[in-house]
Amino acid sequence: MTGPVLIFDSGVGGLSVARSLRQHYPNTAMCYACDNAWMPYGLRDDITLSARIVAVCQAAVRACQPSVLVVACNTASTLALDGLRKALTIPVVGTVPAIKPAAAISQTRHIGLLATRATVSRPYTQKLIESFASDCIITRVAADALVLEAEALLGGVSPNRERLQQALYPLWQAVDHQLPVDTVVLGCTHFPLLKPWLEALAPTPVSWVDSGDAIARRVGQIAPALKNGQDGRFFTTASAEALGEGFSQYGFYTPGWLELSA
Ligand code: DGL
Repeated sequence: MTGPVLIFDSGVGGLSVARSLRQHYPNTAMCYACDNAWMPYGLRDDITLSARIVAVCQAAVRACQPSVLVVACNTASTLALDGLRKALTIPVVGTVPAIKPAAAISQTRHIGLLATRATVSRPYTQKLIESFASDCIITRVAADALVLEAEALLGGVSPNRERLQQALYPLWQAVDHQLPVDTVVLGCTHFPLLKPWLEALAPTPVSWVDSGDAIARRVGQIAPALKNGQDGRFFTTASAEALGEGFSQYGFYTPGWLELSA
């Protein structure tokens, strides 16, 4: 029996991954689960958060009966992928910052990493940098404010230009002995939703790199046969009233509630 692809994030960020998945697999059934009661994840402590992520994903898998889980959240993946793979019997595809593709294209060898506070400081992220970008300078920017801007955008509110500018500012700060940032990793799935605004605020053109395409390709490699057709359910842990309109723009029309076992 094949099931839909289940996309999981703390909030609406996974919709940027859903967009990439739909480009690669336009006929595949997909459903979505988010833990909006606990969002934002980037400011939570690791121990309670990893247990929570496993509990929410187990509940989402019970509700959706998917054939693959896509953890469309860097903050969750850099913390809880091992725990999820132990707890679930279906394949789990994670989302981690696109350091490797960024290092492949940066000319100045100065890369910006824009992610949550948790992701920029995780050992998992440090390992990615050591493995794939050891000859690059990485300017890490904790940009948790952008998570809320993306949530508001999906609720119909335009991003606040000043907040965006403030979040990006550390990327452009000139340091005299190094070349400027020419590539920025969007290491939080919420951020590609803001890309047109981020691009407009960059003082010089930079390449913005996210993991959406790589995740879509990975799903094709490891998932069993993908189920064709519509699913369109989205599950939340708190009211999704403000977001229903935003979800429906991405093909998720039918709200549901996630029952977490005690
Ligand atoms: N979308 C999530 C990520 O990719 C994080 C958002 C949050 O802090 O909840 O990291």
